[in-house]
Amino acid sequence: MLAVDVKNIKKTFTSKQDTVEAVKDVSFQVEQGEIFGLLGPNGAGKSTTILMLTTLLSITDGSASILGIDVATQDKAVREKIGVALQDTGIDKILTGRELFFTTCRLWGYSKADSEIRTGELLELVGLTEAADRRVKTYSGGMKRRLDLGLSLVHSPEILFLDEPTTGLDPGSRRVLWDEIKRLRDSGVTIILTTQYLEEADELADRIAIIDEGLVVAEGTSDELKASIGGDVITLSFTSKEDLKKAQELFTDAVQDNDELRITVTDGATKIPGYIKQLNAEGIEVSAVSASKPTLDDVFLEVTGYRLEGAEEPVEEKKEPSRRRGR
Ligand SMILES: Nc1ncnc2c1ncn2[C@@H]1O[C@H](COP(=O)(O)OP(=O)(O)O)[C@@H](O)[C@H]1O
Ligand SMILES: [Mg+2]
Repeated sequence: MLAVDVKNIKKTFTSKQDTVEAVKDVSFQVEQGEIFGLLGPNGAGKSTTILMLTTLLSITDGSASILGIDVATQDKAVREKIGVALQDTGIDKILTGRELFFTTCRLWGYSKADSEIRTGELLELVGLTEAADRRVKTYSGGMKRRLDLGLSLVHSPEILFLDEPTTGLDPGSRRVLWDEIKRLRDSGVTIILTTQYLEEADELADRIAIIDEGLVVAEGTSDELKASIGGDVITLSFTSKEDLKKAQELFTDAVQDNDELRITVTDGATKIPGYIKQLNAEGIEVSAVSASKPTLDDVFLEVTGYRLEGAEEPVEEKKEPSRRRGR
């Protein structure tokens, strides 16, 4: 059975002033046990999609099911299967981490004794045992995200939705969360996450859907998406500007990128000797040549027509103490 099956869902927000088609037509399937990444820029419709799939927002049109359970008509049953960590959670920062976990366990119906046990387990799982008795307001950005992640796991959900789990974090904290998320996947949890970072989708997601302006514009594994570009990128550098110009005239398909020429071909490595031969015959001197696979950045450019600039540089105000785990 599919973990998540989304068929042509749509969300239209209507107010007196205007109508916003936040999600125009989104479909995708997620297998159990995989990490599925929804990659797209700000305003693409990622959060709206997550809110619909987690029953927090009604679906305007289309249908979605979680483990075969219909999201629109069986919201209560769906909620028991899923965990959600949203982008802006208003968690109570006066409480300590331990108190927050304990309260959340009680809300999910655990007895006091079981809540204490579960709190201990989850604090350990997300690496917050040492900081457990500090108020949440003293936590760093990375610690707060790990807290959000832990809180979404209280009732041991089978499917986990994470909306931009690492946005705004520094690279170190981001990597800690990536490891956490992979460990959860390896323990059998299915994870649907949204991101605006190419690197995050590439590193974490088993499969990726690129979403832009409320539409899924490409879908597949990172390798499939890269292969869809239709070949390898050969990059040629030259010893002089004149040679660069002459080479450009020789290879009309080549695209100039700063002081280099880029040519997209199938089977790049085997084509290199032929290119060198042609250039040498024209007396053009090559200083460097390489063949590489396209990046997800190239894919994004191809399917949307623009480059996905990394979201504003991550900043983290509080320094995170080095983290020790007990295993
Ligand atoms: N409650 C709402 N009312 C009106 N428009 C909204 C609402 N929520 C989101 N939108 C609009 O829908 C579009 C998609 O938003 P969102 O799903 O938050 O994108 P993302 O999470 O990819 O940044 C944006 O243009 C946003 O302004
Ligand atoms: Mg969002």
